[in-house]
Amino acid sequence: MIPGFLTEELSSRPFRFPASLEQAYSGLIDELQREVAGFGRCTYCLEDTSRESVAWQFDRYLPAHYFKSYYSLLQMESDALQSQSDCHLLSWPSLTVIDVGCGSGAASLAALALLHRYQQYRIAHCAPIVPVNVLLIGVDPNPYMLELYSRMVESYSERLEHELVRVTYIPHQGRFPEDIRQVLRLYQPNNRHSVLVILSNVVRILEDLYSAGETSALEKVLRLLRGKKPASGIFGAAEGIAIESILEEWGVNCVSILGVATIGSGLKPHQWRDALHNLFSVLSLHTF
Ligand SMILES: C[S@@+](CC[C@H](N)C(=O)[O-])C[C@H]1O[C@@H](n2cnc3c(N)ncnc32)[C@H](O)[C@@H]1O
Repeated sequence: MIPGFLTEELSSRPFRFPASLEQAYSGLIDELQREVAGFGRCTYCLEDTSRESVAWQFDRYLPAHYFKSYYSLLQMESDALQSQSDCHLLSWPSLTVIDVGCGSGAASLAALALLHRYQQYRIAHCAPIVPVNVLLIGVDPNPYMLELYSRMVESYSERLEHELVRVTYIPHQGRFPEDIRQVLRLYQPNNRHSVLVILSNVVRILEDLYSAGETSALEKVLRLLRGKKPASGIFGAAEGIAIESILEEWGVNCVSILGVATIGSGLKPHQWRDALHNLFSVLSLHTF
């Protein structure tokens, strides 16, 4: 069933929200237009953490970030299938997702949509479906982002009951990488098999923390505390340790990472590529 589903999804153009997700999104946009005066008439920068800016970012960026994540998840599933890897999302009865810098939840919603669409595909092909339990943890320092994350996930999840996708979600106010251990100590995964970590459109933030010397300092402390060899000081090292701690603290066999980056103003494509390459080479050293 999975190969047929992936082929059908990857070849459908243009990509569309599932109808129930579209309802959830347009419903929340309507509510925000009533609740947050005038956000649609201004332009805000991404660094602006105000309620108006967060509503504007939700209106402007959620669909693009969702579709990039959805497409990437389909590709990840195809790659896992081809390499016969167990690190995939479909066909397991439970899934745990940690969405780092979740914002209003674009990438978490894409992970839910993948499970939802697969259940729909099975029903359409008269195949039995079994319940899928999903634990979604959204980590973000901005309370307004977490509020929208909760409202979107709640609203979409209610519409997934029919297809037996059962969602528990936890909005956690915190910063990556330093607060990841706290997250791991507070919550337990749905299974020890695998966890999906999402880093969607947060590379610029991680780069800024690195340039300010914050993550390099954190890497030194983390290594000292664990009696490990001296810090490398390279971009991504502290994040790598944070993700490695998922394997240790939760005793999970496999961590898959979905990384999405948008080429933005001021940074050249090759700079993003280099930054991402550094980050993921360090992450992969730690996790695979
Ligand atoms: C460009 S938005 C991306 C949101 C979402 N992941 C997406 O793809 O639509 C970046 C998010 O990272 C959050 N953020 C900023 N600093 C962070 C940190 N140190 N750790 C985790 N998230 C952070 C911001 O509050 C914001 O919600």
